[in-house]
Amino acid sequence: MHTQFKKDIDAGLSDEQKNLSSKYFYDKKGDALFMQIMAMPEYYLTRAELEIFTQQSDRMISSLKLQKENYFELIELGAGDGTKTKELLKVLIEKGYQFDYMPIDISENVLGHLKNTMQKELPSLSVKPQQGDYFECLHNLQDSHHPKVVLFLGSNIGNMSDQQAADFIYKLGKELSVGDKLMVGVDLIKSADIVLPAYDDAAGITKQFNLNLLHRINNELDADFNVAKFTHAPEYTEDEGVARSYLQSTVSQTVTINDLDKQYEFDAGEKIHMEISRKYSEKILQKIIEFTDFNITENLKDSRNYFSDFILERS
Ligand code: AVJ
Repeated sequence: MHTQFKKDIDAGLSDEQKNLSSKYFYDKKGDALFMQIMAMPEYYLTRAELEIFTQQSDRMISSLKLQKENYFELIELGAGDGTKTKELLKVLIEKGYQFDYMPIDISENVLGHLKNTMQKELPSLSVKPQQGDYFECLHNLQDSHHPKVVLFLGSNIGNMSDQQAADFIYKLGKELSVGDKLMVGVDLIKSADIVLPAYDDAAGITKQFNLNLLHRINNELDADFNVAKFTHAPEYTEDEGVARSYLQSTVSQTVTINDLDKQYEFDAGEKIHMEISRKYSEKILQKIIEFTDFNITENLKDSRNYFSDFILERS
């Protein structure tokens, strides 16, 4: 992990367009900052998806074509705190569906926490956490031959390029069987006056979230980023439907990363690309899944048409 981290940081900072991967945002501090972002008034995504789960769970269940007599596995990729999923789980239990809830995460910590909250709030729920890589865990579950519903919520797919998203969904298809379902939560393309503030909250939490990766590099790779000399610079173009965040060096400066034995020069105004947050339309998703074994069967939107949970069926 650490060698990969080192390699990726060096490669990113050595690129023509400097970049750092958003997958490294989530250390302990980064997890906490993301929780704070979700509570910001500007960050509409989580609340919009929660509304879908609270108000349309019946439709979700019928669209997933679940049957009470038939046991299934409800698998969640990167569940976080499970707030949204809990709404669906509650209804499934009330109505007497037979299933196991299987959150998959790389972090034992996250899984332990999730299992505790679920057991406290839904005592009759069967939780079977799977620790590891998404694809390895799914591969191990394949032998059971039970029908599967896979959840990938929260616009987590938005951090991938379209090619990465296509590869990801293609690979999920390889670990699933005909008739299995995949529900993907995506943020919909909408105007900049709504999207941009979500990535530039007035309280400055998103800025801290981005800068935290520089702190992380300082701490873990013995570097000397002067974090005060970088500012947060988010962009969004509605045409394209992609939000991008950058950290911009306010002065000409040199940064030393001791564990890499290297120095990196920054021009005044130079930007480090940090993250993409792709916004979707049905057409874009359709194109992404073109060469996968999935078809779109349903599309659940919140009341403001901000967010959508697409249901895909493995063919
Ligand atoms: C966790 C990928 C859904 O892109 O909206 C929030 C991460 N970055 N604010 C997103 C994020 C800045 C978030 N996702």
